[in-house]
Amino acid sequence: MSVETVATAPEKGPRHVALIMDGNGRWAERRGLPRVVGHREGVQALRRTIKAAPDFGVRCLTVFGFSTENWSRPADEVSDLMGLVRSFVGSDLKRLEASGVRLRVLGRRKGLPGDIAAIVDRAEAQTAHNDRFLLQVAFNYGGRADLVDAAQRLLDRARAGLFEGDVTEDDLGAGLSTAGAPPVDLIVRTSGEQRLSNFLLWEAAYAELVFQDILWPDYGAEALGEAIALYGNRERRYGGRDVLTDAPVVKAAG
Ligand code: FPP
Repeated sequence: MSVETVATAPEKGPRHVALIMDGNGRWAERRGLPRVVGHREGVQALRRTIKAAPDFGVRCLTVFGFSTENWSRPADEVSDLMGLVRSFVGSDLKRLEASGVRLRVLGRRKGLPGDIAAIVDRAEAQTAHNDRFLLQVAFNYGGRADLVDAAQRLLDRARAGLFEGDVTEDDLGAGLSTAGAPPVDLIVRTSGEQRLSNFLLWEAAYAELVFQDILWPDYGAEALGEAIALYGNRERRYGGRDVLTDAPVVKAAG
């Protein structure tokens, strides 16, 4: 393939993939194991998936680690999930940093245990210089809460005399915790459930949705490849058609 072909070839695969990592509990229960074992295996699946993503041309992964609704789970499960973040950052941050990964944690910092908020701040600062791959972990995140926070930021700026005029999509988008990330191309949910559960509500506007019948702890390169192949067969129209040919404006894969 000539350099020119490479330079002009259309982007075929998704650049930004978001994952709802569902099914850890069921994976464990089916084996008669405590749910925390499912979550631990879920971290392994996350490691496999992060490792595989760049091979598919993915430059950004956003994963749903803990939602604003997950606080209603039993206290020991909440504490297990917090513990997994501590150990994930503790054991993986150096390697991620060395591989050029920038880590960003989406969601409300307020409300997190103090030590987790500090770990997260440090991890973000330590990887801020990286630009090869963006890993966004949604933690204490809810799509509605994120929109509320973006609106509040605008209101605060307006009250301080720093914003005036009509609100645009760019104004609101700039206040979301995903601001600056590439547009979300593909959202995958595992475990067979077919809903967004308050994940990336704004960012999902033109994303393709793929639902896979696999429990998250079994996820890895093969399943990600399947999801990306399904994405490749979708036509992305962003609401438009080509005015001359009536053909779709963008096709995900050639
Ligand atoms: C859904 O499974 C999964 C979660 C609520 C947590 C996902 C977390 C991880 C994969 C590990 C921790 C994350 C990081 C960032 C280190 P579920 O418990 O709802 O499964 P079920 O629907 O089968 O009960």
